[in-house]
Amino acid sequence: MASTNLPLDADRLWSDVMALAEITDPEHPYTRRSFSPLFLQGRAWLAKRFADAGLAVRIDTAGNLIGRLDGADPSLGLIAIGSHSDTVPSGGRFDGIAGLATGLEVVRSLAGMRLGHAIEVIDFLAEEPSEYGLSCVGSRGMVGALDASMLDLTEPGGEKLRDALRRVGGDPDRLEASRRQDIKAFLELHIEQGIVLESRSLDVGVVTSIVGIHRIEIVFEGAADHAGTTPMALRHDALVAAANTVAAVRRIAEQLAAEGPDHFVATVGILSVEPGASNVVPARCRLVIDARSTNSALTRRFVEAVERDSATYAAAAHVERTSLVTLSDAPPIACDPVLREALRRGAQELGLGETDLASGAGHDAAFMSRICPSAMIFVPCRNGKSHAPEEWADREAIARGAAVVLQAVKTLDRSLPRKQ
Ligand code: GLV
Ligand code: MN
Ligand code: MN
Repeated sequence: MASTNLPLDADRLWSDVMALAEITDPEHPYTRRSFSPLFLQGRAWLAKRFADAGLAVRIDTAGNLIGRLDGADPSLGLIAIGSHSDTVPSGGRFDGIAGLATGLEVVRSLAGMRLGHAIEVIDFLAEEPSEYGLSCVGSRGMVGALDASMLDLTEPGGEKLRDALRRVGGDPDRLEASRRQDIKAFLELHIEQGIVLESRSLDVGVVTSIVGIHRIEIVFEGAADHAGTTPMALRHDALVAAANTVAAVRRIAEQLAAEGPDHFVATVGILSVEPGASNVVPARCRLVIDARSTNSALTRRFVEAVERDSATYAAAAHVERTSLVTLSDAPPIACDPVLREALRRGAQELGLGETDLASGAGHDAAFMSRICPSAMIFVPCRNGKSHAPEEWADREAIARGAAVVLQAVKTLDRSLPRKQ
């Protein structure tokens, strides 16, 4: 279907995506890290766009930026549409942003058509793993899953997450005020970040499930010594234990994935070495493991194996494993069948090609499913590439997906159960 036939303004939607992309660290496009000055600049732009669309704008105590359009019947509660405006370092222009621009465009396209339900567009705080080691900070807060130990997480510069939350307009001492009971449905559009839709020339994917994500931080401590004079047998090299652990993560993950049919992947994406000099034996290494699966039992077996093997490698390298902590542990979730059906019908009404798809990426929708029916729709992205500057989704692809969300919102406004 050509975007001129869609019930929304594809150019207006596209120009929002492109405008937010401009708010980036120019040296490392596209970077807008949560809690940074650029992030706040992006949010100021977004808040203005929300207000221009007629939304009442606020930041909740969990630091989520929310734009609200009241409905005709306050007893019905609301339908929320959201995603995130933060990026990974040197990420893309569409991850998160496409979903926010969709929310805005849905609201603008409803102009003059007052729904029974209120609509909220939500920019969740820090969906990507932040410098504090935690992802989905805002959606965790909205569902009551942001606990005191998480608020004590500290970034390398020494700032605690609770202070950063205050700095961006939240209130860590009043998080319960962000817990919602009035959201009757949550919808999120996202780029697929995979190649299924593109390779099958399909317009949209209706997400069936979202992987569980388990993150572990391990620290090995040995001793800094002269790299030229310390005999091999007398070294306490923290990097040797860390490197063997990285290789073990790969090996264990490959074994679990090979068992099938469940999805299992694991990555070490952070590895720091101190003091980090070519002629000093490494004294301290920190690594962060990100493990994902559709099956929590596989994740448990992975964690047990990593605990065992990393202890063995620490002993063999004559270093201490001084810390092994779970940074976060979110189980896999299934998307709501009623909302999925509304999205599928929306796609069919628009004559679009759709399929069911599981998500290997994490999303705020996974946390939202703890408090309300939640579902997602994916749109194709070029070569499945994401979390990289090459990330790309066509203007038409986003517009089609947004039109499906718009159709689903109209359907749900009529069909959601009316009793509180
Ligand atoms: C979010 O992008 C994630 O899947 O880590
Ligand atoms: Mn992402
Ligand atoms: Mn995302």
